Amino acid sequence: MKILITGGAGFIGSHVTRRFLTNYPAYKIYNLDKLTYAGNLENLKDIESNPNYQFVLGDIVDASFINNLFSTHSFDAVVHLAAESHVDRSITNPLEFVFTNVIGTVNLLNAAKNSWKENFEGKMFYHVSTDEVYGSLGLEGFFTESTSYDPHSPYSASKASSDHFVRAYHDTYGLPIVISNCSNNYGSFQFPEKLIPLCIHNIKNNKSLPVYGDGKYTRDWLWVEDHARAIDLIFHKGKNGETYNIGGFNEWQNIDLIKELCRIMDEKLDRPKGTAEKLITFVKDRPGHDLRYAIDASKINRALDFTPSVKFEEGLEKTVEWYLSNDEWMNNVTSGNYKKYYEAQYTNR
Ligand code: NAD
Ligand code: TYD
Repeated sequence: MKILITGGAGFIGSHVTRRFLTNYPAYKIYNLDKLTYAGNLENLKDIESNPNYQFVLGDIVDASFINNLFSTHSFDAVVHLAAESHVDRSITNPLEFVFTNVIGTVNLLNAAKNSWKENFEGKMFYHVSTDEVYGSLGLEGFFTESTSYDPHSPYSASKASSDHFVRAYHDTYGLPIVISNCSNNYGSFQFPEKLIPLCIHNIKNNKSLPVYGDGKYTRDWLWVEDHARAIDLIFHKGKNGETYNIGGFNEWQNIDLIKELCRIMDEKLDRPKGTAEKLITFVKDRPGHDLRYAIDASKINRALDFTPSVKFEEGLEKTVEWYLSNDEWMNNVTSGNYKKYYEAQYTNR
């Protein structure tokens, strides 16, 4: 089986690529990635010489490139993760999100449809999406697979649009598809613009911890390798045309999560208790900030017997340990582009 993974050099994509190569030696995996600021081939150093792995540098927005790639390789399946993924960046530059997340996804759908020539036996287009398409919850309730879409940020609007296109290709052309909508992921290889690696990096370097608004915003956190395992399960056992929500049943207010991180970091860095918490700084809120995300993951639990394997406190500690012992990775990503972006984002906040 020839599988095209898009965005394999990113955070989640690198875990999915590694898992597929390790667990399925009969698969040939092509990792198509543009290597934007978030794409980092260092994330895949340990598997890059695997004979079943091939990296392809390219942009999903470039339709003729994508069509040629599909003609050359005759893929059997696509696992589509490539995206612009950071809400704050989407507020600064929404169009980039339309290009990659919407047009890029439609280019892939077209290429798959045309290359499979409407003989869809044994083929699958797996679209990896987010719970943010459902909008924001109040203090009660959960997102189910039938919750109406109500995106608020340019990021979530672009992901919602891509989900609609994927379903439209299923309904209109019969393209075999599955979609999963997952909650916030954490773990190794996450670009340090997202909350957890950003705070780990800042605590280590005694820099302030920017908490948006009052810090009471709530997210449902899932260990990234559990997400990769869920994707594996859905890819192999999910039903054509279905959507699966993936979550951790693990809600944390940002401020509590940051305090827990501070506690772990003080311990690991051998600093007096309370040192890291002094770095907490409340800053201007994110516009359109969604109050709460929480996934009802009972469908994937029932249908595919999926439950998260890693308890959050344990996963957070492992995550801290990973970043602290991978200085070189962190130094490489925090130089260059990231720094410029960081300054633009946080100066005057
Ligand atoms: P990421 O930003 O770490 O990685 C995205 C990858 O896509 C990068 O390697 C980047 O180079 C690549 N890419 C971007 N634009 C491209 C283009 N035009 N052509 C080809 N490649 C391109 O993102 P992530 O956090 O790993 O998220 C992966 C997917 O999972 C996304 O679709 C995201 O919406 C979804 N998701 C993420 C989370 C999360 O918590 N991070 C949760 C649920 C769903
Ligand atoms: P983030 O990691 O950007 O993920 P998302 O916006 O997709 O949920 O942010 C997680 C939460 O943390 C979100 O409520 C915004 C908040 N946040 C901060 O308070 N400070 C920060 O510096 C960042 C990056 C996020």
